[in-house]
Amino acid sequence: MQGKFITFEGGEGTGKSTQLKLLAEWLRLHGVECVESKEPGGTEVGKDIRRLLVCGDKDKMDPVAEALLYYADRRIHLTQKIWPTLEQGQWLLSDRYADSTTAYQFFGYKQRVRRETLDSLYHLVAGDFKPDLTILLDIDPKIGLERSFAKAGTMSEKETRFESRGLEFHNLLREGFLEIAKSEPQRFVILDANTTIENLHQEIVRVISERFGIK
Ligand code: TMP
Repeated sequence: MQGKFITFEGGEGTGKSTQLKLLAEWLRLHGVECVESKEPGGTEVGKDIRRLLVCGDKDKMDPVAEALLYYADRRIHLTQKIWPTLEQGQWLLSDRYADSTTAYQFFGYKQRVRRETLDSLYHLVAGDFKPDLTILLDIDPKIGLERSFAKAGTMSEKETRFESRGLEFHNLLREGFLEIAKSEPQRFVILDANTTIENLHQEIVRVISERFGIK
């Protein structure tokens, strides 16, 4: 049986990576084998692409070049990790996927990359393949950025290319994610991330149990 592909989306400081890890532990306890991954940088080659994307000056490349690099990373992630994992019957949990490109490179950048360009890149790279479920963690960007900066201070490499953009960018991003989610209500669940780690985890577990019948 094919495994499930679950993606976590949201702006900075929503707690995606913490929640992904907790969900993976919970799934394993319930007999579901799963692989934890992320974009950009879910593969060896992807780690090099990630460095190009998240480090350095915020204006070092234009939005189209940036979108192409995210999609190169995504293609490698799909062919080397996501699809093989699902074919083996394991679940794959990804911290970000294509909705991040639409949110950041389209909505965040005030549509300087055309939506059709991103949609055709998606089709080229993934065909009709889509996540089985996307969990959007929503938070007021003021709170998210505060959390994110506190974390960036402890990172070995300064991955702050996006955090360093202003509040206006992050507000656009949040609206973008919500708009994408509303356009595909079957695939998305939107959860309020302004709560405790444990509360949010329980919400996620409730959604996963209901949707996939895991007890
Ligand atoms: P992360 O910090 O959540 O790992 O993500 C790295 C940064 O890359 C984050 O600021 C969001 C950004 N990003 C995009 O702009 N477009 C994309 O398609 C993806 C996957 C991430």
